[in-house]
Amino acid sequence: MTTPLLVQALQRQPVNRPPVWLMRQAGRYLPEYQAIRAHFTDFIEFCLTPDAATEVTIQPVARFDLDAAIIFADILTIPHALGLEVAFTKGHGPRVETFHSASQLADMQLHLAAIPTVLDPVSQTVRQVRAALPDDKAVIGFSGGPFTLACYMMDKKPSEGIPNTLKMAEEDPQTFKALLNLLTEACTTYLRQQINAGANAVQVFESWALACPSYLWEIAVEGPLLTIGRNVHATHPATPVILFPRGANQNQLKALTEKSANTFNGLSLGTDANLAWAVQHLQPQVAIQGNLDPLLTEGPGIPLQQALTTMLNTAAIHPGYVVNLGHGLTPQTRPENVQRIVETVKAWQNPQGSVA
Ligand code: CP3
Repeated sequence: MTTPLLVQALQRQPVNRPPVWLMRQAGRYLPEYQAIRAHFTDFIEFCLTPDAATEVTIQPVARFDLDAAIIFADILTIPHALGLEVAFTKGHGPRVETFHSASQLADMQLHLAAIPTVLDPVSQTVRQVRAALPDDKAVIGFSGGPFTLACYMMDKKPSEGIPNTLKMAEEDPQTFKALLNLLTEACTTYLRQQINAGANAVQVFESWALACPSYLWEIAVEGPLLTIGRNVHATHPATPVILFPRGANQNQLKALTEKSANTFNGLSLGTDANLAWAVQHLQPQVAIQGNLDPLLTEGPGIPLQQALTTMLNTAAIHPGYVVNLGHGLTPQTRPENVQRIVETVKAWQNPQGSVA
């Protein structure tokens, strides 16, 4: 059994080159994805159909020879499993049934026990993908972060602000905390389930950490993420955990890193983060993943290649680096640019010697 390159890098073992995978590597920029997508009107149903999900999970790995497959699903499978209606309407993005009061918590608490059953199709996808790929390719499971899920449950478009989430945090902090606790438990259960099915690493997407005001950071973002990491590590110590607190500032990244022992292995950085700073202040303790600007994948390849080479020369010369973007690939990504990223990483030579 070969340990996947991604797992070696996340455990900060010396490797000949860094592994590469890309957030949203399965998606609308690929015509072969669109062909399968066309069979489903309901996006959640697509996510919960193991054969279709397996196929689109494998598509980018087969096409580009990436080092890992991230299971095709969505962070909003958790609100769905908790009994809230989740709809994806064309042009509007996702819409989640609104969470507005403590009275809904009891019902969601009842649904918590059903997560392993409702989300069993995702475990089935993990098993199928693991069986289909060679040992050296990693299979990555994931969940949303509790704060990001809470934002989608209270505010329709977090990209346009999160007034309802902030109102709940300020006016009814007990309910807000109870909701985060419930989501933390749901994420932990779901991630363990994916690891039990064969996932080699897991990532928690806290994409709307970006919108979290600093006075709420510890209770809304840091605390829940560390609890998930600690709980998953307690039962599955050999499986690396990656946290993606998009938009976290340097103090917040540093504080997370100082609490990483027995909790998480890697931090995925948003496009906004300074990679050279992260290498100096975080990488000695945790693995770093990121953080190429996804917009570069929409344009001609030369600027992309230059930015990627700079990233490699900055971060890949030390142990504990994973090539990725600062956010997901977009529907406008040119597939040939993904090919270029993979080829550039594979051709890169560590100027400091044969192993990092
Ligand atoms: O990375 C991967 O390839 C694995 C699959 C994956 C999807 N969503 C598939 C998807 C993952 C890891 C996600 C995570 C996700 N989903 C996040 C966190 C990362 C991030 O991008 O910030 C968030 C916030 C969501 C919620 C969500 N799901 C949004 C905002 C949207 C897109 C709305 C839009 O129309 O652009 C989705 C839908 C979605 N999830 C698609 C895919 C491939 C596109 C839907 C389609 O094909 O119609």
